[in-house]
Amino acid sequence: MSPYNPLAEALNNDLLAGAPQIFNMLSERGKAIYFPFKGILGQTAEAKAVKINATIGTAFENDGSPLTLECMEALVNIPSDSFLYAPSFGLPKLREEWGKLLAIKNPGLKGKTFSLPVVTAALTHALTIAGYLFLDPTDEVIIPNLYWDNYELVFTEAFGAKFAFYNTFVNGGFDVAAFSKALNSGKVGKKFVLLNFPNNPTGYTPTEAEAKALAVEIRKAAEAGNQVIVVLDDAYFGLVYEEGITQESLFSLLVDLHPNVLGVKLDGATKEDYVWGFRVGFITFGFKGAGAAELKALENKAAGTVRGSISNAPCVSQAMLLKAYTAPEYAAQKKQKYEILSARVRKIRETLKAHPEYAQSFEVMPFNSGYFMCVKPIGVDCETLRKELIANYSTGVIVLVGLIRLAFSAVPTDLIENLFANIHAAIQKLRG
Ligand SMILES: Cc1ncc(COP(=O)(O)O)c(C=O)c1O
Repeated sequence: MSPYNPLAEALNNDLLAGAPQIFNMLSERGKAIYFPFKGILGQTAEAKAVKINATIGTAFENDGSPLTLECMEALVNIPSDSFLYAPSFGLPKLREEWGKLLAIKNPGLKGKTFSLPVVTAALTHALTIAGYLFLDPTDEVIIPNLYWDNYELVFTEAFGAKFAFYNTFVNGGFDVAAFSKALNSGKVGKKFVLLNFPNNPTGYTPTEAEAKALAVEIRKAAEAGNQVIVVLDDAYFGLVYEEGITQESLFSLLVDLHPNVLGVKLDGATKEDYVWGFRVGFITFGFKGAGAAELKALENKAAGTVRGSISNAPCVSQAMLLKAYTAPEYAAQKKQKYEILSARVRKIRETLKAHPEYAQSFEVMPFNSGYFMCVKPIGVDCETLRKELIANYSTGVIVLVGLIRLAFSAVPTDLIENLFANIHAAIQKLRG
């Protein structure tokens, strides 16, 4: 007898019929999850048009409008039906709009097939869903050795997976050879790759040539018989400040790369639309030869994971974003905010150029995008430096994986010179 619920079995059969290699990428949890269309949600949907609707646990006034406190309604300029639950898949119009935006922001997706995005409670939750669907405790996450530290909680603590690290940079660029070696080490089979560009903590995005080279390596691994799940954490998408750096998500290259390569794109409003507390993100799937039934099966499994973890993402936030994305002023305002961050990166470059003596105090790691950059202090301990900067220079920085991470996103442009002057002075002082 199958260990799975018949609804999971049906989704698994859709995958097995159209793309057995994708079924084989699923974790045990991923195989077992399904969207409960026949439960409360399904029964509620069937009763949508009835006169007396005693199905779902939301409240309505006697006139049929959502029962809400007027003082709360007065706080947001959106219809009160946004106070109700959003579907676990997300608001249908927002999913559609984000799908359209993906194609506009990534011209390389033109004419290519990918799933409709499923809404998550922002990127961390999307990462958790990716772990839930694809990681068993015996699996490894192939990841560069400079990474966002929360990946530890999400992937190793929650799902028991191990990290397989590779070197991040070589000669001022991404170490594609180290990536390839990590991807091809061990036995042929399922591989879980996690890539995050623009990167936290380094602020690095590959050049166009590096992005193509990464795709070539992934294709070669797939041709060798590996089933490669490539999870793209695109949290900082669009914030690329320099020439020659890839402007598109790697997703554009992955969705039609090889049947053995599943692209799992995680993105959302948090960083790119500057709404950190809204908690809205997306998970989108694509692979070469994907049919509608297989993509729908993956969407259903993702939405089932949403239903089983947070039930649904905040509806007020989703409604506000949908309104913003279709507002005529959205694109111009976004460009204006991008220019602020871009100007800070120019200021950093100018400052470093004007002060060659800083090279005695720290090495500047490659950066070109996102919210951050990193420096590697010379001759002092990072944690001692961090404490010294707070105590005597009124300057806060983050220590991560042996580096000092500087969030230029949070530093006014006219304080950037001071930031670097303080770091240099503190290092010189500590070195005596
Ligand atoms: C690389 C990366 N991914 C994901 C996240 C989390 O995003 P969210 O706040 O949408 O969960 C962050 C936030 O710092 C991040 O740096």
